[in-house]
Amino acid sequence: MVDRRQVLRVGALAAAAPTLAGAAVVTSLPEKAEAADRRKIVVGHRGASGYRPEHTLASYELAARMGADYIEPDLVITKDGVLVARHEPEIGMTTDVAAHPEFASRRRTVTLDGVAVTGWFTHDFTLAELKTLRAVERIPALRQRNTLYDGLFEVPTFDEVLSLRARLSRELDREIGVFPETKHPTYFSGLGLDFAPRLVRALRARDLDRAGAKVYVQSFEARNLIDLRRLHKLRAPMIFLTGVTGGPFGDPRSYADYLTPAGLRELSRVVDGIGPDKAQVIPPGGEPTRLVADAHDAGLVVIPYTFRAENQFLPPQLRVGTDPAAYGKAIDEHVLFWRAGIDGLFTDQPDIGVLARDIAFARRTAAAA
Ligand code: G3P
Ligand code: CA
Repeated sequence: MVDRRQVLRVGALAAAAPTLAGAAVVTSLPEKAEAADRRKIVVGHRGASGYRPEHTLASYELAARMGADYIEPDLVITKDGVLVARHEPEIGMTTDVAAHPEFASRRRTVTLDGVAVTGWFTHDFTLAELKTLRAVERIPALRQRNTLYDGLFEVPTFDEVLSLRARLSRELDREIGVFPETKHPTYFSGLGLDFAPRLVRALRARDLDRAGAKVYVQSFEARNLIDLRRLHKLRAPMIFLTGVTGGPFGDPRSYADYLTPAGLRELSRVVDGIGPDKAQVIPPGGEPTRLVADAHDAGLVVIPYTFRAENQFLPPQLRVGTDPAAYGKAIDEHVLFWRAGIDGLFTDQPDIGVLARDIAFARRTAAAA
């Protein structure tokens, strides 16, 4: 049997320049865990963020109760080094920090992945300070009903998310998976705040860094995933996220480079799957691309993002009426993608993701039909 590590030493990974791993490390990449969840999975994107302010325990809990297989915390880091669930380090859009005069002087401008961003940042707040804030709806104009919950929920730590996951798994009598994403790892590393040891420690403390655990670790930065695997010996399956344009910050490769058949084969030596923008699977109004077939040929699962029911986020042919906040034919969109062969999807409305999966694979019972 061919030793995969031997293949790494002599194969395309070593030959390509620049490589995924870099010339200095090709002899030390461990084999990947190869424990990707091969079922068709519904990932509650930022929880059930179509119904609750994103990245709150209430949002994650609702996602699990709606049938999501995994809950998805995006992770950033506090000043005192704690992993917390927010989509980005700037918290002015998703908390009530602007209403706290004691934090007015913390507002500033930083350069985040080459872009000037003004606001309040998690790395300027201790966890104790962050805990005095409350979450608010990110897009109130589209999700007015979610503003009902503004001011009710804390910013959760990753550890609190894992505790919730464990409790809900017991209550619902099925294991709820967790799908953490490291946000801007190069940026945080530049601040002396590295994700890898914190993430690995948190997962290992709960015996979640092992083959077969319902965990996926995801990142838009391939380098971060490679370090997690190589330096920190992370065993949990990993997903490399891609965008329609551009590439990982500080990486000479574009996302398009990574998604060629050769790029996918190379990725498969390190990660278990890809998380493309859904437009990379089926462009709006177009036909499915070859991405799912190419990724499957390379042994990678495909879990695209982000499915949302509001017209604003749907392709023109699936919109209903002209109100951007009204629901369009979201079930149709989900079903279309399920039937295109994807292995899972990130959705803001997990109940729709589950229902559409049932429809796509004709799993509705007579009583429910
Ligand atoms: O992680 C998948 C998807 O969530 C990526 O997009 O920006 O919502 O984190 P984002
Ligand atoms: Ca995410």
